Amino acid sequence: MNWFTDTLGTSIGKKLMMALTGLAFCGFLATHLAGNLTLYVGSEAFLSYAEHLHSLGPLITLAEWSLLTLAIIHVATGLTLFYQNWRSRPVRYSVKKTAGGRTIGSRTMPYTGILLLLFIILHLLNFHFVDKTGTNIWNIVTDTFNSGGYIFIYIIAMIVAAVHVSHGLWSAFQTLGVDHPKYTPFIRGLSIVFSVIIGIGFGFIPIFISISV
Ligand code: HEM
Repeated sequence: MNWFTDTLGTSIGKKLMMALTGLAFCGFLATHLAGNLTLYVGSEAFLSYAEHLHSLGPLITLAEWSLLTLAIIHVATGLTLFYQNWRSRPVRYSVKKTAGGRTIGSRTMPYTGILLLLFIILHLLNFHFVDKTGTNIWNIVTDTFNSGGYIFIYIIAMIVAAVHVSHGLWSAFQTLGVDHPKYTPFIRGLSIVFSVIIGIGFGFIPIFISISV
C-alpha cells in the first residue's frame, strides 16, 4: 500500500492516477453506452440485456465496487490537484484565461467534473437505488424520461460529459507519455470522436424514449 500513498503524494503521481482512473471510466462509458443502445431497440432487448447483466452476480458486484473505488480516487485526486493549482497561481486575478491555446474542455475540467459527480449521484438514485418491486428497469427508465425536467437534466449532463471526456481522454494519453507529432493529432481527433459518440449516443436516449414510448 506504501507505493500507492507515495505515488499519490507527488504531483505526477496524482496526474497518473487521474489518467488511469479516467481511462477506466472511458472504458466503462463505452460498455455502458453499448448496453444502453438496446433501449433504442425496445423493451424486450433492454430487459434481456439487464437480466443478462444481473445474472453475472458476484462479477457485477465486483465491477460496482471497482467503479466506486475508481470514482473516489478520480474525484479526490482531481479536487486536490485543482486546489493545489489554484493555490500556486502567482497572481490569481490577472491570469489570462484564454492564454496557451486552451480549449473549453481543458478550461472547464474541474467544473464539468463536479457537475458530472452531481449527475451520477442523481442517476444512481433514479435507476440504481430505486425500489424495483412490482416494476422493471425498462418502466423505471421510460417513466423517468416522461418528465420534461429529467429529459433536460440528462441532455445537459450528456453535453457536460462529452466536454469533460473530449479533453480528459486526450490529456490522459499525454500524461502517460503518448506524445508524438505523428500520433498526437490522431489521439486528439479520436478523443473528439469518442466524446461526440458519448454525447449523442447517451443524449439522444431521453429524446427517443419520450417521443417513441
Ligand atoms: C441517457 C443516458 C443513460 C441512461 C439511460 C442510463 C441508464 C442506466 C441504467 C438503466 C443503469 C442500471 C441500473 C441498475 O440496473 O442497477 C445505469 C447504471 C449506471 N450508470 Fe447510467 N445511464 C445513462 C448515462 C450514464 C452516464 C453518462 C454515466 C456516467 C457519466 C452513467 C453512469 C452510471 C453508473 C456509474 C451506473 C452504476 C453501474 C452499476 O450499477 O453497476 N450513466 N445507468
